[in-house]
Amino acid sequence: MNSETEASFNFFLPPFVVFGRGKRSVLPEYAHKLGIKKALLVADPFFVGTGYYAEIKEMLNAAQIPLAEWSGVVPDPTDASVDEAARLFREAGCDGVICIGGGSAMDTGKSVAVAAGSGADSIRAHMAPHYGSVGGMAPVICLPTTSGTGAEVNPYAIVTNTETNEKGLGYAAWEMLAAQRVAVVDPDLTASMPPRLTAVTGVDALCQALECYISQSPNPVSDCLALHAVYLVAHNLLRAVNNGQDMVARVNMSLAAMMATMAFPNAGLSFPHFLSEPMADLYHLEHGVAVGSVLVASLEELLPYKEERLAEIAGAFGVQSQGRSQREVAQEGIAQIRKLLKDIRFPTLAEAAGGKDVIDIDVFVADVMQKKAGLLKTQEDRERVRSIVVRALAG
Ligand SMILES: [Fe+2]
Repeated sequence: MNSETEASFNFFLPPFVVFGRGKRSVLPEYAHKLGIKKALLVADPFFVGTGYYAEIKEMLNAAQIPLAEWSGVVPDPTDASVDEAARLFREAGCDGVICIGGGSAMDTGKSVAVAAGSGADSIRAHMAPHYGSVGGMAPVICLPTTSGTGAEVNPYAIVTNTETNEKGLGYAAWEMLAAQRVAVVDPDLTASMPPRLTAVTGVDALCQALECYISQSPNPVSDCLALHAVYLVAHNLLRAVNNGQDMVARVNMSLAAMMATMAFPNAGLSFPHFLSEPMADLYHLEHGVAVGSVLVASLEELLPYKEERLAEIAGAFGVQSQGRSQREVAQEGIAQIRKLLKDIRFPTLAEAAGGKDVIDIDVFVADVMQKKAGLLKTQEDRERVRSIVVRALAG
């Protein structure tokens, strides 16, 4: 780890976290602490049919916290879905939000809380191009049921503006948010994830940690969190995919996802996440698949510039460095990441897109450069994007 990093950075401290198996039982206690009198329960549709959902409702009922329920969460939430949930929040007289599910459920719930705080007719008021000031939000408690996005600890949400078709971070001054938020991370809730979802969400967590560690602006705090998150994924993701009831692996994957997302909003990400939005739009790839399918290609492309950091990542994967050059260690680390993806049966880019011919590289590069104009500006960036896609398609 680079000890010469200049200690000058901003850092968002995540919300209050309660972590551990069975910790869902503290939910009523924290709802009371936040002063919630009536909660909107925002849940992923699949979760509503589970025993855990019934158990959580029963706990809240027993604690005399009345609920309105909304399970219309859509993957990649839109302004329309958020607005619909926010309408129910207002009509039912709620004053707090409890969200249970993956990133989409949590992003929806947090956005409802923002709209409730400002009284805006639509969440669009807080998104590009308006970026209306947020000015507080209703209290929110997040309970993740996946170990991937880490949305329980980040202070923003990805919502699509259906008027402009723009997908992106909601909210101006996001770093000032979340003062009232609690994350209850109970790994038991992730045990029902099937192997494929475990793999896809786990790879998102891996990408977030890895990209953070090799980003342009890491800092000493993000480095610690991100590198340990990589270590945890390296040693637990395959176990969790192969045996969903391996609770040691589940606990470690929940930790990894949370730590990666404590880190990356404070440091930045890299190519896999820069490319994920165009990939989702053009080839309809879900987020975790999009980022994972170009991960190895991105690391190979960045190897000449990030050799030291990639060698440190290799160390987290257990690669021995004795008697080897830094370049060899870094290359072996990338090979280990490729092997992990293969072992968890993660799709290649060509498989995910439905065939190599589906991807017109010129169209893709043009779309990336247009959507990410603020991040990727130069001819060099353009060539790097092209090279990553060529590599990924070859893999
Ligand atoms: Fe992600």
